[in-house]
Amino acid sequence: MKYEQRSAPLSYFIFHTSYLKQCIMSHLMELTNITKSYQVGSQVVHALRGVNLTIDEGEYVSIMGPSGSGKSTLMNIIGCLDIPTDGDYKLDGIELSQMSDDQQARIRNQRIGFVFQQFNLLPRTTALKQVALPLMYSGVSRRERNERAKEALTKVGLGDRIDHKPDELSGGQQQRVAIARALVVSPNIILADEPTGALDTKTGDELMEIFNELNDQGITIIMITHDPEVAELSRRQIMIRDGVIVEDSKTGEAG
Ligand SMILES: Nc1ncnc2c1ncn2[C@@H]1O[C@H](COP(=O)(O)OP(=O)(O)OP(=O)(O)O)[C@@H](O)[C@H]1O
Ligand SMILES: [Mg+2]
Repeated sequence: MKYEQRSAPLSYFIFHTSYLKQCIMSHLMELTNITKSYQVGSQVVHALRGVNLTIDEGEYVSIMGPSGSGKSTLMNIIGCLDIPTDGDYKLDGIELSQMSDDQQARIRNQRIGFVFQQFNLLPRTTALKQVALPLMYSGVSRRERNERAKEALTKVGLGDRIDHKPDELSGGQQQRVAIARALVVSPNIILADEPTGALDTKTGDELMEIFNELNDQGITIIMITHDPEVAELSRRQIMIRDGVIVEDSKTGEAG
């Protein structure tokens, strides 16, 4: 018998490396006993008091809880915007505290997209420029920056508003610019802190559809919300109270 020498198809390698990766490190994020305390004058505020949490790639998680319970603090730690007082945080199996500042900054700029309640857009700056900005730090040519910014704006339904400045856009449109700005670096994680907090219900719903589509494309989404109806749309709901997780439930699963 004569065997034909053939190289394995690319898909074989992709499958096997991702399978191997799954076996070696099964969680995208792994938080163990995370605490965060602030010293304010003579008072110590315990914002997080021992958070244990694992999140896998492709999950869509909402975080709920009363005001002051530690939601934003937790989100900032997850997004490497802040460091915990104590505990371990592993991202992709790598302990964050072992990474250099440069490595952490790279993760923040290239893997994670942030969306905030107040949009945080620059005034007097067109949508195209706002969205192209994050690419400035990664050495992409101006032409490509603009092309990718336009693509991201089109993805959120704003292809016809690229020259508009924030005060020439509605609240929902401004938040979509903020989402496009988060998307332009092709992150695999999106962290959103009350993204619909400043929007009416209908506009909020439209935004949630965008998040849904992004999650369908495989992007991991972690979203803080006060609104139980918004949380319902995610696939996993976490409740935090006084700096600890008190509930963690998954929906949309059989049974
Ligand atoms: N920089 C800081 N210095 C001191 N205390 C802080 C700081 N940031 C947050 N805190 C305190 O930590 C606790 C948790 O704050 P955090 O912002 O995480 O709450 P939250 O759950 O996001 O609330 P909200 O729903 O109102 O946004 C609060 O008691 C807050 O006062
Ligand atoms: Mg908050």
